[in-house]
Amino acid sequence: MATTTTTTTGLRDITKMERIGAHSHIHGLGLTDNLEARPSGQGMVGQAKARRAAGVILKLIEEGNYAGRAILMAGAPGSGKTAIAMGMAQSLGADVPFTMLAASEIFSLEMSKTEALTQAFRRSIGVRIKEESEIIEGEVVEIQIDRSTTGLGQKSGKLTLKTTEMETIYDLGAKMIEALNKEKVMAGDVITIDKASGRITKLGRSFTRARDYDAMGSDTKFVQCPEGELQKRKEVVHTVSLHEMDVINSRSQGFLALFSGDTGEIKSEVRDQINTKVSEWREEGKAEIVPGVLFIDEVHVLDIECFSFLNRALEDALAPVVIMASNRGITTIRGTNYKSPHGLPVDLLERLLIISTGPYSEPEIKQILGIRCDEEDVQMTEDAKDILTRIGMETSLRYAIHLITASSFVAKKRKASAIDVADIKKVYSLFLDEKRSVQMLKEYQNQYMYNEVEMADREPAIGNGSGMNASA
Ligand SMILES: Nc1ncnc2c1ncn2[C@@H]1O[C@H](COP(=O)(O)OP(=O)(O)OP(=O)(O)O)[C@@H](O)[C@H]1O
Ligand SMILES: [Mg+2]
Repeated sequence: MATTTTTTTGLRDITKMERIGAHSHIHGLGLTDNLEARPSGQGMVGQAKARRAAGVILKLIEEGNYAGRAILMAGAPGSGKTAIAMGMAQSLGADVPFTMLAASEIFSLEMSKTEALTQAFRRSIGVRIKEESEIIEGEVVEIQIDRSTTGLGQKSGKLTLKTTEMETIYDLGAKMIEALNKEKVMAGDVITIDKASGRITKLGRSFTRARDYDAMGSDTKFVQCPEGELQKRKEVVHTVSLHEMDVINSRSQGFLALFSGDTGEIKSEVRDQINTKVSEWREEGKAEIVPGVLFIDEVHVLDIECFSFLNRALEDALAPVVIMASNRGITTIRGTNYKSPHGLPVDLLERLLIISTGPYSEPEIKQILGIRCDEEDVQMTEDAKDILTRIGMETSLRYAIHLITASSFVAKKRKASAIDVADIKKVYSLFLDEKRSVQMLKEYQNQYMYNEVEMADREPAIGNGSGMNASA
């Protein structure tokens, strides 16, 4: 029995391109088979413990019994939390859904916060549906269409199909004739006809006809004439997310909403119906649930209502694995006056396993910068790399990565093939990093508006003690 797999990849969020750009050099977690982190692999450098922990979580997800758990990645800004999440996404199986949500997004959608979170949860649960369909597969020997002389009445005709072992003539109705015309099927094509829907798919041209048609386009695909019976059973597997099913079945939306992304709020009755249907299918063995991953970046931006929603949603029978990331230290939980580690309420923190990411060493920063140079397709002299690494150590990895693009532009302007120290120096003086910007504020504060805020009032980020790596 042949098995085809279709996935939802095509429907994955296209709006996230921008964010992924910063991590386009990441192709996985770079682990060995024993889940040891390679010093450098698949674009990932260092951060061995966190990568290994992420690998363990992936294994648990693969084994399918980790749904409903939550992980928090905590670490200073620029320490690779989002990068590791992207690496995890790429190591997941092709039909395991991965949804990425920046916590701030849920405040900007035209729907309630809980609705936005519910949709994100349901996007992250796949339903693998198995369908057995009866098909007819064979090489077209002849198509004969009888046109009535008056031009009125139903068209009819005959289709002769063969395999290497048999040949059968089928009667054609008007609809089939239309379908054959539409696909431009002719003698010598190998086709399949889905018996239930009547859908015709052209697989290619038969090899035996290869010589007859010298004049055919170069894109013609040649296939073998099928063997055995003309009628076959074929198992088709689709994976769709619960959210996709919700949208398709909510009458006011229609499936076109999936492409426009304009899904609006979905009624709870629709979701109940889908849940019932899916559990029926599961009992009948027609479908299985594929719990995926929901990644909520910058989770400290959520407020107390969202956090209590998360607490409850994680206990639902249909819950994905939720991975969150936060770069905050002890800070106020939004919507309350309480302070808490990472800006998350303690009852949610208690349910989490925490993976922490630490600062990078100098050689690691150098290596990451090297990888980014390759990714952005720019050349850089060794000296320039050294100086950029030093900048990275003293300011932040992110700032150094940004300087690559800017300095390559400067180098191009002076028609140099590689970025040199002078180019780095130039952009370093043109663009401030956070530390120098703060310095500047302190020096010239009376020239700015609203300068009464004391620096001590800033929200504390992890690793802020050294005075670097802080983000607003
Ligand atoms: N271990 C690593 N290997 C390769 N690239 C890395 C690594 N860590 C970070 N990077 C890259 O450095 C940049 C900053 O990292 P990232 O965005 O993951 O930080 P973050 O921990 O999510 O920070 P924030 O808390 O500010 O969101 C990204 O471009 C990322 O791809
Ligand atoms: Mg991040």
